[in-house]
Amino acid sequence: MNNFTFYAPARIVFGKGQEDRIGELLKPYAKKILLHTGGGSVKKSGLYDRVTASLEKSGIEYVALSGVRPNPRLSLVHEGIELCKREGVELILAVGGGSVIDSAKAIAMGVYYDGDIWEVYETGKAIEKALPVATILTIPAAGSESSGDTVITNEEKQLKYGYGSDHLRPVLSVMDPELFFTLPESQLANGVADMMSHVFERYFTNTKNTDLTDGLCETVLRTLMKNAPKAKANMQDYDAWAELGFAGTVAHNGLVGMGRVQDWGCHNMEHELSAIYDVAHGAGLAVLTPGWMEYVYRDNIGMFVQFAVNVMGVRGSYRDEDAIVMEGIARLRKFFREMGLPGSLSELGIGEDRLEEMAKKCTGAAFGEEHPVGGLKKLYWQDVLAIYNLVK
Ligand code: NZQ
Ligand code: ZN
Repeated sequence: MNNFTFYAPARIVFGKGQEDRIGELLKPYAKKILLHTGGGSVKKSGLYDRVTASLEKSGIEYVALSGVRPNPRLSLVHEGIELCKREGVELILAVGGGSVIDSAKAIAMGVYYDGDIWEVYETGKAIEKALPVATILTIPAAGSESSGDTVITNEEKQLKYGYGSDHLRPVLSVMDPELFFTLPESQLANGVADMMSHVFERYFTNTKNTDLTDGLCETVLRTLMKNAPKAKANMQDYDAWAELGFAGTVAHNGLVGMGRVQDWGCHNMEHELSAIYDVAHGAGLAVLTPGWMEYVYRDNIGMFVQFAVNVMGVRGSYRDEDAIVMEGIARLRKFFREMGLPGSLSELGIGEDRLEEMAKKCTGAAFGEEHPVGGLKKLYWQDVLAIYNLVK
């Protein structure tokens, strides 16, 4: 196990009806807030009106900015920064999914940043300050309700970059599983693929002596795979959504990756797909992950055998370790398929013409300075291209 610092300050307020307390919960933090929302689901479900009623009851003033789209855009972030500065906003409340929360985080640091906030995504330089962010989560998926990360799309440059800082960890996140009832089945599936990937990116490692976090990772994965089909069968299954929601937070608040070298190859490869083709992040991951596993598993076959046995339940007499791993991967593909997720780039509407361009952008080779991605196996652009080709 490697040295680490674990810091996950977000207060998670979990359970039925907790969003109706949002005014009271935010009162210690701010008198005036930005209420940031997405494309309309929160208004349609009535959540927006309940939130504003609670804010008004607690005497919290708010200005609103809606219209965040999946793969949140830099242009709206710029608008939000100006609005917050003009209005003297003290906290940003994101009501929505990862896209709304990530947009809120970008605005939160942009308020104090001297220059275009995109520079921070491009250079990775450390920020010193951000407005506090709070969230009411409406989809378990990105884990942004507790992470210090934000992922933004620069639509002009067709780039999608992530940035992380402890200053961006939300101070408070409300998670009411009932808010997930209105999700379309496709978003349940995308969310599950993303949450599983957040665990995979930490689980698959060459670091030794990681029994505790191995076990935590495996439990989160099994919990997701057990409860996702239940929620799919009954989109109002509170207990299934409760498991999925909490698992999503545990998957990405940092805990299950402590003391291990992490991977993040699939996430880097997926961001290229979303940047150009605007595909759902989870759907892109569902396509890439099994292909990545096939490409890299021989670099640490023991880890993939462990996954096949402990997570995918592979038992019985297989002729060798390769066969066990391949059965584990086949079962993962089957699970994704049963959830209604795509199995190839072509199913995502992605042709072959820009694969090399995406591979070179992914590792930075396109910009003249290559930084291979992936912790378990270093992937250069040729490797990324080979994986894209495996799943095309
Ligand atoms: O915009 P509205 O109308 O609200 O509709 C959204 C959106 O179309 C809809 N939705 C959300 N909650 C709903 C609902 N529809 C009905 N009922 C509800 N309760 O779902 C759609 C997808 O929303 P989005 O916020 O995009 O989903 P998700 O949470 O999967 O976020 C994806 C984004 O998060 C980034 C991804 O790259 C992607 O841009 N990520 C952020 C991370 C982080 N900050 O730590 C880590 C992740 O790896 C990920 O990269
Ligand atoms: Zn993700």
